[in-house]
Amino acid sequence: MRMSVIGCGYLGAVHAACMVTLGHEVVGVDVDARKIEALSRGEAPFFEPELADLLAQALATGRLTFSTDVAAVSGARVHFVCVGTPQKRDSLAADLTYVDAAVTALLPHLGDGDLVVGKSTVPVGTAGRLAAQVEDAVPGATLAWNPEFLREGYAVKDTLTPDRFVYGVPAGESGARVQALLDEVYATALAAGTPRIVTDYATAELVKVAANSFLATKISFINAMAELCEVTGADVTQLADAIGHDERIGRRFLNAGLGFGGGCLPKDIRAFMARAGELGADQAVSFLHEVDAINARRRARMVDLALEVSGGSVDGVSIAVLGVTFKPNSDDVRDSPALDVAARLAVLGAHVRVTDPEGMENARARHPELDYVQTVDEAVTGADAVLLLTEWKQYRDLDPEQVGALVGTRAVLDGRNALVPEAWREAGWTYRALGRP
Ligand code: UDX
Repeated sequence: MRMSVIGCGYLGAVHAACMVTLGHEVVGVDVDARKIEALSRGEAPFFEPELADLLAQALATGRLTFSTDVAAVSGARVHFVCVGTPQKRDSLAADLTYVDAAVTALLPHLGDGDLVVGKSTVPVGTAGRLAAQVEDAVPGATLAWNPEFLREGYAVKDTLTPDRFVYGVPAGESGARVQALLDEVYATALAAGTPRIVTDYATAELVKVAANSFLATKISFINAMAELCEVTGADVTQLADAIGHDERIGRRFLNAGLGFGGGCLPKDIRAFMARAGELGADQAVSFLHEVDAINARRRARMVDLALEVSGGSVDGVSIAVLGVTFKPNSDDVRDSPALDVAARLAVLGAHVRVTDPEGMENARARHPELDYVQTVDEAVTGADAVLLLTEWKQYRDLDPEQVGALVGTRAVLDGRNALVPEAWREAGWTYRALGRP
C-alpha cells in the first residue's frame, strides 16, 4: 500500500522505515530540510539501536522516499500524522500547533477514500475535531486515531511487534471501512497474533495517556516507598523485588531512583491534568500532581546526598557525573533527571565533569556550562564524588578498584540503584543510593 508519514522525528522516522519493512511504499514528509536530507542518505537523526540498519534496508528497496514538500503525499491512501505535541511554554497543556498544521497541510492533497491516521499523543477530543475538519473538506476522506506506544531504545521492536494495536474509528459504516484499511496496513503483525482493540476516538486517545499515567504512577509509587526506606533504614530494591513477585503488581517499572524523564511521560501526565481541568474532571487525575511532585523530589534528594557526602557544600568540589540521558540506550536529554541534577550541582559551585556514551552533544546544547569529557577515566580522575545518574551497562559494570585508583575520594552516589553496594563498600568506597541504607 502507498502511504505517507507526516513528521519524521522520533516517531515518524521509525514508523516510516517500519512500514516499508511490512511491505508498503512510504513517503516521509518533514518541514526540516536537514532532517529530510539526512534520512534520505540513510542517517538516523538520533540514536536508536537498529534504526540505521532498518533505514538502509528500507531505502535499498526503493519503496522509501523523503520530501519537504507535502504534495509528495499524493497517490498515498493512508497518511500517518506523527508530529510532536510538546508541552506549551506557559502552561501544562499540550501544544497542538504541529498536529493542526499537519492536518491542514494534508487537506488539499486528500481524495475520496483516503484515511488520515493520527499517531501523536493528543488531548482527548482532538481526534473528533480533526475528523470533522477532514470530512468537511474532503468528501469520502476520513480519520482514525491509532496511538503509538513505542519506547526509545526499543522503537523498532515496539513498532513492528507492539503489545497491542488500538484503533479509534468513527461510528457506523465508515468505521468498518477504516478498520479494514488499518488491518491491511498492519496485516503482518496481526497475522502474528498482536491483539487489536477497535474503539471510538475518545477511548483511543485516553488509552495512550492512561498507559503513560499508569507507568509514571508506578515509578513514583516506588520512589515514594524509597523516601520511606530512607527514613527507616529499609532497602527499596528488596522491597520492589518482594512486592513485584505478586503477579498483580509485577516487577517491571518498579526501579526506584532518580525518576522518570524524557519526551513523553512528564509532558503527557501534565497535558492530561490540563485537559482534565478543561473538562471539569480535575479531581479524577489530581493524584498526578503528586506523581509529578514525588518525581521532582528525587532530583532534589540526589543533590542533598551530594551535599551530605561533601560536608554540607559542593562549592569548589569536583564531581564526576556518569550518564546524562533520561535513560540508557538513548541520546535524548529532554527533561532528563540526570542532566538536571548535574546542572543544579554546577549552580551550587561544583566543578561538574560529565560523560555519557551518546548524550553529550544534546546535553552540551542545553547546558554548555558543564565540563564534558569522553571517558569515565577522565570524568573520575581526582573527583571528590562519583554520581551514577543514568544506568548505562558500561557504568553498571565498572570495577570499583579501577575507578578507585583514579578518584580523589572514594565516594559514589548511585542515582539508579544500578551498582552492587557490597562490591563498592568492600573496595573502601562510601556508597550512597536513593532508598537504600
Ligand atoms: C515511554 C513509554 O514507556 C512508552 O510506552 C511511550 O510510548 C512513551 O513514553 P520512553 O519515554 O521511551 O517511553 O521511556 P521509558 O522506558 O518508559 O522510561 C521513562 C522514564 O522512566 C526514564 O527516565 C526511566 O529512567 C524511568 N524509569 C523507568 C524509572 O525511573 N524506573 C523504572 O522502573 C522504569
